[in-house]
Amino acid sequence: MSSLSSSVIRIRGLTRTFQLKSGPVHAVRGIDLTVGRGEILGFLGPNGAGKTTTLRMLTTLLPPSGGDAEIAGHDLLRDPAGVRRRIGYVAQSGGLDPACGVREELVTQCRLHLMSRGAARERAGELARELGLSDLMDRPTGALSGGQRRRLEIAMGLANRPEVLFLDEPTTGLDPGSRAELWELVARVRAEHGTTVFLTTHYLDEADALADRVVVVDSGRIVAEGTPADLKTRYTGDPAASLQDAFLAITGRGATGEPVAI
Ligand SMILES: Nc1ncnc2c1ncn2[C@@H]1O[C@H](COP(=O)(O)OP(=O)(O)O)[C@@H](O)[C@H]1O
Ligand SMILES: [Mg+2]
Repeated sequence: MSSLSSSVIRIRGLTRTFQLKSGPVHAVRGIDLTVGRGEILGFLGPNGAGKTTTLRMLTTLLPPSGGDAEIAGHDLLRDPAGVRRRIGYVAQSGGLDPACGVREELVTQCRLHLMSRGAARERAGELARELGLSDLMDRPTGALSGGQRRRLEIAMGLANRPEVLFLDEPTTGLDPGSRAELWELVARVRAEHGTTVFLTTHYLDEADALADRVVVVDSGRIVAEGTPADLKTRYTGDPAASLQDAFLAITGRGATGEPVAI
């Protein structure tokens, strides 16, 4: 699925160092990665591994310290506007205005992609139907449940029919029912539109259920990569193991970063 000819993301030597008064923080230390068109990639790692920093670079929000990438046919450094036109991004901490209505948020997002007023309203209706928000259009976003808010944020990320959707910890803080609903939704978006999904998570069951391929990052580097089944077999010798066992074998820690006694 990720053969070079059908790849939609190619990342080469991506790094990011933050210069703080206390010294440099090497958040991302050299990521090389190719993602196939239509693939759901789980970018997995403990807190502080560099997942959000990587995503912010790939979505043009943060300049890399080194390396480059090509995303949906556009060069990240030379054509960031081209990249932005072809991707959607749902940040880890949502940026919804609690006083703003659902319809207004959707229409505004479509307008940001330079749709006419009429096209934006039409697309907002379409997105609402697709993501099950039609009955909530007049509700202020501050009155939505966590799961509904996440669905709205994803709808906004899909406004421009992106080739690649970046989701940063899409289900963190959701109850189990809403998490399962969201997995179904992501799988459906990929099935219906062929959207490539690049999602970060520290939930191993999420990566296991949803991802075609998992990339484990730790301290800014890729430390393992493969299908969930590959990783289980390779690191625990047992294809029936949980991804948690494989993750522990790879990083020596639980997925949330706290040390775990093995
Ligand atoms: N703006 C910033 N300034 C300084 N350090 C940062 C900044 N953003 C992230 N970091 C540091 O970079 C590392 C990776 O952070 P992050 O990419 O947010 O990890 P993750 O999303 O995997 O939890 C952490 O050590 C974090 O403290
Ligand atoms: Mg993060």
